[in-house]
Amino acid sequence: MRIDILTVFPDMLEGFFNCSMMARAQKAGLAKIHLHDIRDYTTDKHHKTDDYPFGGCAGLVMKIEPIDRLITDLKSQRNYDEVIYTSPDGEQFNQKIANSLSLLENVIILCGHYKGIDYRIREHLITREISIGDYVLTGGELAAAVMTDSIVRLIPGVLSDEQSALSDSFQDNLLAPPVYTRPAEYKGWKVPDVLLSGNQALIDEWEFQQSLERTKRLRPDLL
Ligand code: ADE
Repeated sequence: MRIDILTVFPDMLEGFFNCSMMARAQKAGLAKIHLHDIRDYTTDKHHKTDDYPFGGCAGLVMKIEPIDRLITDLKSQRNYDEVIYTSPDGEQFNQKIANSLSLLENVIILCGHYKGIDYRIREHLITREISIGDYVLTGGELAAAVMTDSIVRLIPGVLSDEQSALSDSFQDNLLAPPVYTRPAEYKGWKVPDVLLSGNQALIDEWEFQQSLERTKRLRPDLL
């Protein structure tokens, strides 16, 4: 899968995608993550990516030309399944959306900034608008990182144990059960006996009941 991220602050994302699982996924050739600086597609001498809004309201709006030029350039090289815009007024991102996006071949994610982007970009170039939650960030970069991370880790082979993506919280609308590691007792705090029993059927049943109980208590809306 290939994800092209369009931003005016590629440095914000560079480090994130060069670490840990995201770096591994790219090195293994399972995910291609390309960062594009929108500024490189400006044609004026000041490399302006934003301008004052028509109508006189406060704030700056991202200009249409560099973004259109960049998207057109990418589209001339391959077909894209989605051109996503990160925006607090988009549909709310969740595991179901992550699952469906992880099945796609090529995706563009455009990070917004300032007061937003010229609305014509949303009308003519964007195919999907996604928010990561009901709060406003200073820009879409963190949203793009959150989405890309949750999508890429679902690509088969990215996680060393593929089962671990399947047993994630939310994957089956249940929160994950508690997990423990050695030592089995610390300061008198004990790991539940069943997990040390070696009886897999009992352990599976305990984990399921724990998932159910935690979901009822913490996220009853998921049931
Ligand atoms: N840009 C600013 N706030 C955002 C949010 N909550 N989700 C996605 N993109 C954003």
